Amino acid sequence: MRKNIVVGNWKMNLNREEGIKLVEEVISLVSTDNNVEVVFSPSFLYLHKVNKMCANYNLLQTASQNISHNERGAFTGEVSSQMVNSLNVKYTILGHSERREYFNETNIELKQKVDLSLKNNLEIIFCCGESLNQRESGVHFDWIKQQLTESVFHLTEKEFEKIVIAYEPIWAIGTGVTASSDQAEEIHQFVRNVITEKYNENIAENTSILYGGSCNPTNAKELFSKKNIDGGLIGGASLNAENFTRIIKSF
Ligand code: 13P
Repeated sequence: MRKNIVVGNWKMNLNREEGIKLVEEVISLVSTDNNVEVVFSPSFLYLHKVNKMCANYNLLQTASQNISHNERGAFTGEVSSQMVNSLNVKYTILGHSERREYFNETNIELKQKVDLSLKNNLEIIFCCGESLNQRESGVHFDWIKQQLTESVFHLTEKEFEKIVIAYEPIWAIGTGVTASSDQAEEIHQFVRNVITEKYNENIAENTSILYGGSCNPTNAKELFSKKNIDGGLIGGASLNAENFTRIIKSF
């Protein structure tokens, strides 16, 4: 059975004190027996602290927002998958559209990151999604399939069990424009079909596919009610404890 997951991607927001307060508040508001895995993805700087705060709760986990595509060595300013794993962090987010756009991450580089993450026992929240132009010109299905094919479909069945997919249409990120639940469901169904084609139905049925892009307490219930939407990757609304908790309670 696939898991319901809600991930808070803080991006480059919140200082240490603000982050700690947010996690404390979410812990006090959220029931930890509601069968939703909640993942905080803070800055690398507070990942250790936040992970420790979550250590007593099986359903509270953490994720780094990125890792280096190099294993180790003279790469000033980089953080390796092995370093993140040494904090007992469960996940890393990879392939966020902001990293693809502003830091020129390619599918090939992401494949290297995927391999290094798995080698160092990190599970992966792998992001895919199209721009508005791509959607309007009708190439979005092919584009998403290509993102998956070039970065994660080389994995064995066993390795692919460590992958969570996050569909984030770029036009919906931080814009206040959410994909309608039908638009999101259409892509989620497509992604599940593509995973079935590549692997098999059992693996596809067990893969959690999250939606991201202006997901908020008002639209989360409708989105999460769809058969193939197993949770959310939340940006702005994850920075406020009440909003984030309401999203977590939207299943
Ligand atoms: P918003 O929820 O702010 O649109 O961001 C979505 C996102 O990019 C999460 O990774």
